[in-house]
Amino acid sequence: MLTTPRLKTLQDLIAGATKEELIWLSGYLAGVVAQTGVESVPVGTLPAAQEPEAPAKPSVGKITIAYGTETGNSKKLATDFAARAKKKGINAKLVGLEQYRLTDLAKEEYFFTVISTQGDGEPPASAKKFYDHIHREPLQLGQLKFGVLALGDTSYPLFCKAGEDVDQQLNRIGGQRIVNLQKCDTDYEIEAGNWFDSILQKLLSAGAPAAGAPATTVRKPTGKKIFTGTVLNNVNLNDIGSGKQTYHLEIAAEAEYQPGDSIGITPENPNDVVEAILSLTGVAPAHKVTYRDEELSVSDVLRKKLNVIFLPERVVKKYASIVRQDIPETRIGLLDLLKIYPVKDAAQFLEVVGILEPTAPRLYSISSSPEAHGGEIHITVTKDTFVVNGETKHGLCSDALSQLSTDHSLDFYIHRNSQFKLPAEDKDVIMIGPGTGIAPFRSFLAERDATGASGKNWLFFGDQHFTTDFLYQTEIQNWIQTGVLTRMNTAFSRDQKEKVYVQHKMHRHAEELYKWLEEGAHLYICGAKEPMSVDVENALLSIIREQGKKNAAQAESYLNELIEAGRFVKDVY
Ligand SMILES: Cc1cc2nc3c(=O)[nH]c(=O)nc-3n(C[C@H](O)[C@H](O)[C@H](O)COP(=O)(O)OP(=O)(O)OC[C@H]3O[C@@H](n4cnc5c(N)ncnc54)[C@H](O)[C@@H]3O)c2cc1C
Ligand SMILES: Cc1cc2nc3c(=O)[nH]c(=O)nc-3n(C[C@H](O)[C@H](O)[C@H](O)COP(=O)(O)O)c2cc1C
Repeated sequence: MLTTPRLKTLQDLIAGATKEELIWLSGYLAGVVAQTGVESVPVGTLPAAQEPEAPAKPSVGKITIAYGTETGNSKKLATDFAARAKKKGINAKLVGLEQYRLTDLAKEEYFFTVISTQGDGEPPASAKKFYDHIHREPLQLGQLKFGVLALGDTSYPLFCKAGEDVDQQLNRIGGQRIVNLQKCDTDYEIEAGNWFDSILQKLLSAGAPAAGAPATTVRKPTGKKIFTGTVLNNVNLNDIGSGKQTYHLEIAAEAEYQPGDSIGITPENPNDVVEAILSLTGVAPAHKVTYRDEELSVSDVLRKKLNVIFLPERVVKKYASIVRQDIPETRIGLLDLLKIYPVKDAAQFLEVVGILEPTAPRLYSISSSPEAHGGEIHITVTKDTFVVNGETKHGLCSDALSQLSTDHSLDFYIHRNSQFKLPAEDKDVIMIGPGTGIAPFRSFLAERDATGASGKNWLFFGDQHFTTDFLYQTEIQNWIQTGVLTRMNTAFSRDQKEKVYVQHKMHRHAEELYKWLEEGAHLYICGAKEPMSVDVENALLSIIREQGKKNAAQAESYLNELIEAGRFVKDVY
């Protein structure tokens, strides 16, 4: 309808607009249309490229839209796409990759994957089986037509790596790419919507021609909203004599969130480390460099943007090739690297700056509730402590947070998790959260207390010692007294000869726990991925087997049904 230059102008305008501007723009256009006497058309949440007005007769039988998600974004998009395809008369099957029958892949005709990247360029836990299957099995998918939408975050070093891998691998094993890989940053709505529009157009037109090579996405600054909060309070929750330090931080900030969300913080590198690095390079600290379209001093780039503390092997490898040295495959800090394998001159160091990766954000579960702690965000941070060559060291971000004093400002963003959410107010919840895993459950309980939710609440908490490590003990006791907490079980592992963990306490109360599940309770796990969450899940399976008189396969499918119904969710790290 529009000529190419006019369409381009419109597309440029849309690409550069914020969400708010787009909403305003859509209202403005609707107003203009109304004034011209033409019947106005409702504008959807995703700006659809021109879709045929009446559903064209689809030329495809069935499509599968499979999602791999950790915090629900990919699922939300995939669900929206499936609904839109159905409206167009396409038989769209929506499935989570954890539930997907791998043997079906060879039978698929159209297979669209929406997948996020987690960890350091890894697929979400729920997509791991699928990811491994396509990479390891000798598959030949001659008839498969596919497309991949990759969700990610440009703040991480390996942007959209899992989606990129799936796209390349499906192609390698014979699949025909009918739409280019679309990589999306955290502000994914528009690009994702356009990606799916182009699929719909192809499916509704006579054929589905193959796309070319995967699209290259230009990296742009991340669209995340950064908030600046002020520290109101920072206390160590562990008592004297504890082997741990867990900090409760209260931050004043006007940021909207829900129980179950986290905040993301990108830590800065210590000044002394940056100064020591630059002193070995011949580069002046004020020397200007360009980082993602921004001109900054090299000293600021090294302090605020780039990971210099503990380089991944892939970066060490690139460093080795710049300085033309044989460096063993290892992880090491940039300062040590420069000391052992010095750069030749300033120019060579600037080349090194070019291969450094962005500092990845660290997430912390929010432990406050919007209803109970208005205008504040609380987090519960364990100071990460480890030993390297006999020297005790601390994690970059948790160490910095542990030292923040009152009135200090702190930049963060809200990382939403649409999976890890409280159910309806009358539903029962079982929360298993040892150590800092307690954080979101303090938020849940405070929220349920403040809103007078009628559902029952059962908390399993554990740590090393009752006297020094019972985080939020006073509040928890109050919740027991006031009836907010219906049941509470603790496991202090080192208070007796035999180690006792939360999964042992679950076993001890197996009958009641199974009864709660049978009555519709939602179950949550938060805290260490390994070994805690694995042990807890195994305990859960064995409780379901014993109490439900089921065999192993039946217990697995019981748990899968809970997952599918959103009644068993994990937030583990
Ligand atoms: C969804 C989610 C929620 C989370 N919620 C919480 C929470 O509520 N509370 C909480 O405390 N944490 C939470 N975390 C973990 C948190 O995000 C950080 O991973 C944690 O605080 C460690 O970060 P750090 O910067 O302190 O350590 P880093 O500096 O990132 O170090 C991490 C590890 O890397 C290794 N390492 C680092 N530097 C060196 C070196 N120089 N030499 C050798 N090894 C090294 C060590 O093994 C170290 O333990 C959560 C994570 C996720 C994904
Ligand atoms: C712990 C963690 C690690 C992440 N690692 C990466 C990464 O390596 N690369 C990337 O592009 N995005 C990374 N992300 C960003 C997610 O992919 C992004 O938030 C995405 O929208 C999540 O979608 P989901 O809710 O479907 O899982 C990471 C997010 C988290 C919480």
